[in-house]
Amino acid sequence: MIQAARQPRARIVATGRWSPPRVVTNRDLESMVDTNDEWIRSRTGITERRLADKDTGAADMGANAARAAMDRAGITAADVDILIVSTATPDRLLPSTACDIQALLGARNAAAYDYSTACSGFLYGLQMAEAHIVAGQAKTVLVVCTEKMSSIIDWTDRATCVLFGDGAGAAVIQAAEGDGRGILSGYMKSDGTLAELLYRPGGGAKFPLDIAVLDERSHFVKMAGPEVFKSAVRSMCDAAENALQRAGCTGDDVDLLVPHQANIRIIDATAKYAKIPPEKVFVNVDRYGNMSSASIPVALDEAREAGRLPEGALVLMVAFGAGFTWAANVVRM
Ligand code: ACO
Repeated sequence: MIQAARQPRARIVATGRWSPPRVVTNRDLESMVDTNDEWIRSRTGITERRLADKDTGAADMGANAARAAMDRAGITAADVDILIVSTATPDRLLPSTACDIQALLGARNAAAYDYSTACSGFLYGLQMAEAHIVAGQAKTVLVVCTEKMSSIIDWTDRATCVLFGDGAGAAVIQAAEGDGRGILSGYMKSDGTLAELLYRPGGGAKFPLDIAVLDERSHFVKMAGPEVFKSAVRSMCDAAENALQRAGCTGDDVDLLVPHQANIRIIDATAKYAKIPPEKVFVNVDRYGNMSSASIPVALDEAREAGRLPEGALVLMVAFGAGFTWAANVVRM
């Protein structure tokens, strides 16, 4: 998708996040599967993750993050024109999680829908929100990314269960104010030929949930780790390079890189490629693991809270996910 450098047309007015209170450490996982803290930390950078309890759904988590973002933006749910939700873990397959979140929030004036781009969800969402605003379809778009990854992970598979966590992040997007702040560039890409390197084979329309699916555990996430790793590095570098170029910037101009938080080694490789030094890279994968599309908005919200995104700061966000999908945005805060 081509998008030229230009004056910002939409901006991130506010962000919010929500994390389940329950912390599960690498040591806790040692009693569940054949793994150890040293292996997990050295291969991924993860020390602990948050996991939701069984009564908390993706819509509950998303609504909590959305409320935090709306409070910070100084708007109410009635002000939301379009509510878009990224989730790989819908509570129900019908209707959308977006409609469930709309009901929880009381966003009665909104049109609500889900989209599916896995871990790249926040950046795809940002670009859809911008498009809705530019097209005159909305004044206020609420982007919610909510992931209860623990519900689709095979807790007997040590190669995947140690990697993921639960959480939600949200952002309120409105038109830019003409002061230079806002989305400077965007880049989105996918390659569906690689879908089976990271997917849930069973439980959908082609292989509906039945005894065979349950026996094969094929309704859980399957991942070819090393192949995903290589594609992730390649794609994140491609996205970073294109988004910077479209914004007319280089890595030197970036105040903070907020990458998808899947693995510290992927983050380091991306930062190195974009020539962004470690002190300008926001990392929280150690505390949350991979929360899929919720990773970037949670990181963005934490970075803001920590004072690392003052007004005028230039932030580069880069993501990669199942599909494969990948995306990047350069934003002036
Ligand atoms: N604990 C201990 N040992 C383990 C574990 C574990 N949890 N998992 C795998 N191993 C073992 C393997 O069995 C293998 O043993 P063997 O050599 O005896 O066969 C050994 O460790 C090495 O396994 P690899 O898979 O080759 O390990 P690698 O160094 O590639 O690291 C990892 C695995 C961390 C999954 C890495 O490939 C990775 O990060 N891939 C990308 C994953 C990712 O980012 N996914 C999500 C991106 S998209 C999205 O966010 C949805």
